[in-house]
Amino acid sequence: MSQQQDLLRDAMRRLNLTRDAFSERLGVRRRALDTWLLPSESSESRAMPEMVGKFVAEILQREALDAGSASGGTEHRPLVQRIAAEGKPQLLSVAQFDRGSLEDLFQVADVMQPIARRQKVTRILEGAVLGSLFFEASTRTRVSFGAAFCRLGGTVCDTTGFTFSSMAKGESIYDTSRVMSGYVDALVVRHPEQGSVAEFARATNIPVINAGDGPGEHPSQAILDLYTIQREFSRTGKLVDGTHVAMVGDLKYGRTVHSLIRLLSLYRGLKFTLIAPPSLEMPAYLVELVARNGHVIEQTSSLKQGLRGADVVYATRVQKERFAAGETMEGYTPEFQVCKALVDSVCKPDTILMHPLPRDGRPGANDLSVDLNHDPRLAIFRQTDNGIPVRMALFAVLMGVDKQVARSMRDAGWRSPAHIGPDDADFDGLD
Ligand code: NCD
Repeated sequence: MSQQQDLLRDAMRRLNLTRDAFSERLGVRRRALDTWLLPSESSESRAMPEMVGKFVAEILQREALDAGSASGGTEHRPLVQRIAAEGKPQLLSVAQFDRGSLEDLFQVADVMQPIARRQKVTRILEGAVLGSLFFEASTRTRVSFGAAFCRLGGTVCDTTGFTFSSMAKGESIYDTSRVMSGYVDALVVRHPEQGSVAEFARATNIPVINAGDGPGEHPSQAILDLYTIQREFSRTGKLVDGTHVAMVGDLKYGRTVHSLIRLLSLYRGLKFTLIAPPSLEMPAYLVELVARNGHVIEQTSSLKQGLRGADVVYATRVQKERFAAGETMEGYTPEFQVCKALVDSVCKPDTILMHPLPRDGRPGANDLSVDLNHDPRLAIFRQTDNGIPVRMALFAVLMGVDKQVARSMRDAGWRSPAHIGPDDADFDGLD
């Protein structure tokens, strides 16, 4: 059954069709398509007729042939080669992706969903060891990379902070990286300096993933953000092309928005409203890059004005730890808080609210407010949940097992709650 959902989701992504347009193309009712897309555990879920499955496969085949001839057939190279960084299976920047390789990665992430939802297990990475090196604070990125590797059957060794690593004794990045490569099969690295993870990557031939290099990039976060936007849009009937994305907060130091805006600019005709006080604006080189790709960019320091009509609101935390000496939060007033009253007054019923998290929940923090916790538009926990299948997909691709995962799955031997969070029932049936 989940194969059926994977096939349909993948087809809509590749054909760039909304559910309405796709059901029309297939000649079926939209409601029927909805029931085929529901998770198999839902009582409303239905098996699609065999004929429809064959038809979808045929349309996809024709599409792949057209794309193949247009790109000289390069699409047939394995994904790991198409996204390689200087020939190595490493993820340092979102610049390594194009639309085709993203779609292929998302297809692998869809295959991982039953494992992420704890219905299936795999041992495809049995015996492999991940080295997780975090020289900056992290909860979700560190744990979700570790959990993703474990759910593929591997194990994790980690070190956190400079204090407990030999870097505190003056060891170079080159030495640390080369030494670790003798111990582990892949490295996930977070480090406070921009460009540092690329330095780790140059010192080894094993897969390295950038889990955040100072104010530089955070590619896996942006990839899971885009995956989340596509899944949410599949429900609300929108496409990434032509959408309006509002980014709010610290756009100067926030690496997640730096990666996300680059990734989104691979799509067509987007409108971005960048909402920040003048001291925390998006770096000019990114604004120029996005404008060069033909997107509309408006910069404002008025939250109310910037959020109006947005399809996606992406809020961020102020990265105070990255401020230079003497740098202040001038202009970052309480008006920057994205709260229920504001969202109700200027956003649409199908706007989605995102945040890379953590959000600062302390009084006066001006972050995404907790008063939105019961609002179904709040996608932040669906977003964090998506971190697992996306990171599993990245490991599977970089370690060359992506094609074997589906065959390797077995039923999980334990049962988990139907809803993992108390509020998740509010979103039931939205998938
Ligand atoms: C972010 C990060 O570390 O860049 N968090 C994350 O990885 N999800 C955002 C932040 O720290 O504000």
